[in-house]
Amino acid sequence: MSWSEDSLQRADQIISLYPEKRSAIMPLLYLAMKEDGYLTPEGIATVAELTEVTAAQVQSVATFYLMYKTEPVGDYLVSVCSSISCYLLGADDLLHAIEDESGIPAGESDGSMGVEHAECIGACGGAPALLVNYELVEGVTPEKGRELVRWLREARPESISTEEMQQLFGGRKSFDWAVREPDAATGPFPAFQTYGTAVAAQAGGGRPKAGGSEPGAGVREGSDE
Ligand code: FES
Repeated sequence: MSWSEDSLQRADQIISLYPEKRSAIMPLLYLAMKEDGYLTPEGIATVAELTEVTAAQVQSVATFYLMYKTEPVGDYLVSVCSSISCYLLGADDLLHAIEDESGIPAGESDGSMGVEHAECIGACGGAPALLVNYELVEGVTPEKGRELVRWLREARPESISTEEMQQLFGGRKSFDWAVREPDAATGPFPAFQTYGTAVAAQAGGGRPKAGGSEPGAGVREGSDE
């Protein structure tokens, strides 16, 4: 088992939330992605060991859900929603612009960046929407999508946050986010800590004021965990 001490402690915390260890498979798969950038056979074996099931059982979960990646996707994974609201408001044009600007067809990666279709990402009111490393941007035009790709290529940001991307590349938002996660994404895996940080954010006053969406507020200031 080669996980960092932090991840192993987090895994223990998550497992303790459930009466059955196997119920923690899904959040632990995110920890495995954080360790290696994607789900390696070793990561799957570690989750199996921690949850006391077989690697095949963990593999069957990992390959069922699209957000779990069993192949490398690059440093930045751009996921363009292609479900109905986004489709009706120009998701095809947005995806084509991103594919054209990046030179990467949907479903592929060049080792630095990956591009993919995504099913509804829960921002239908701000369609068309996309994710970069699971951080959301809403109201994205094809031209802003091209700018986003150039920014990723040229600036190579160390971390990705919804607030920064929304300010730089976003348009109409669906609504202000209810609870902000304290961390920005540092790789092609979710920044959210699977369970627990939303509760911590609420306890610490993390819920933003009505209409308040100042960039960076409540973000990148370290986890309360
Ligand atoms: S249809 Fe795109 S976010 Fe729901």
